[in-house]
Amino acid sequence: MPPMPASELPRYNPLATYAENFDAAPDAVPAIDVPPVPGEWTFCGLPVNSPLGIAAGPLLNGRWIRYYAALGFDILTYKTVRSGPRDCYPLPNLVPVDVSRMSGDEEAVPATDDWQGSWAVSFGMPSQSPEFWKEDIRRVKSQLGPGQVLSVSVVGTIQPDWTIDELADDYAWCAREALASGADAIEMNFSCPNVCSRDGQLYQEPETALTVASRVRGQLTPETPLLVKVGYLDQDDQALRLLHALSGVVDAVVATNSVSAKVRDGQGQPLFDGQPRGICGRSIREASVGLVRRFSEIIERDRLPLQLVGVGGIETAPDVEEYLAAGAESVQLATAVMRDPLVGIRIRQTGLKPVENRS
Ligand SMILES: Cc1cc2nc3c(=O)[nH]c(=O)nc-3n(C[C@H](O)[C@H](O)[C@H](O)COP(=O)(O)O)c2cc1C
Repeated sequence: MPPMPASELPRYNPLATYAENFDAAPDAVPAIDVPPVPGEWTFCGLPVNSPLGIAAGPLLNGRWIRYYAALGFDILTYKTVRSGPRDCYPLPNLVPVDVSRMSGDEEAVPATDDWQGSWAVSFGMPSQSPEFWKEDIRRVKSQLGPGQVLSVSVVGTIQPDWTIDELADDYAWCAREALASGADAIEMNFSCPNVCSRDGQLYQEPETALTVASRVRGQLTPETPLLVKVGYLDQDDQALRLLHALSGVVDAVVATNSVSAKVRDGQGQPLFDGQPRGICGRSIREASVGLVRRFSEIIERDRLPLQLVGVGGIETAPDVEEYLAAGAESVQLATAVMRDPLVGIRIRQTGLKPVENRS
């Protein structure tokens, strides 16, 4: 069978609903040559074939995971799951924005019809039922190859009358079930800019974050990597307090989820009812690399047992190298893989400089 042309490779359709994209997951795995990435790579101590991963979001189910695992990605993150089913926000879910560099101080950013490398993401962390995701995780885990790991992203779903203890239990339940289903690692999502409740903001509250992380840790085996996904922090003292609170409980910090901002249409009218959304893609890379670098300096100076995973705006091999040089052990891509399924192959074809040789 001749190889499928690149333009025909399945990918996320931003104009279709989440459910349609879920169902459109490829059944077949592309027969594409995946160039190796020379060097020794690890993910929280687990050996992996490369530092290339996919962030929580683009991999809606096991079929999407299997597809991208054949396209040069070795650290596959299962989209954030909850303890109960949750629908996606209505369309539009992905609105391209005209901004070249997010700093976190933007009041609002303009929407655009032309792709400029970034978009506002409005999903609201949908989830399938636990019955579905547990079986799906079990199935896809058995389909991954050696040197590939399955990380499952989990989030608690706070109820109006809940205490933080109850929220922590909900996170812990999801983590335990994901592990029992075959997850190699658990990523707690402590940041969702599209969700206004506390489950979306835990990274800004170090003590609460510790309560939840400790409860989750208690449900895992000591060797299970536990990661925490955080949002953008521009204050050094916030970064310091968060790392010190979580050090010894989590194995790695994943930065950065996105940079939050309101979005306006061409007439200057607010989109998304005037609520902020997470801006993802090229425009957040500089801020996110900066955060990884600041985290890395604290970790080294204070000798904290923490790894870093870089995420935000990665499109090319030099982007990956920038994160690795900033102190990341591995990286995750989201926007770029949704636009171009071959981005992993292209990064591998360019080649990555081994970390120790970098000046
Ligand atoms: C369509 C989409 C859905 C996402 N869903 C989640 C999610 O469920 N959980 C999460 O932790 N992050 C989610 N994210 C954030 C990504 O994991 C990632 O942090 C962000 O997109 C920045 O990376 P990028 O610039 O490569 O897109 C989502 C991002 C996109 C684009």
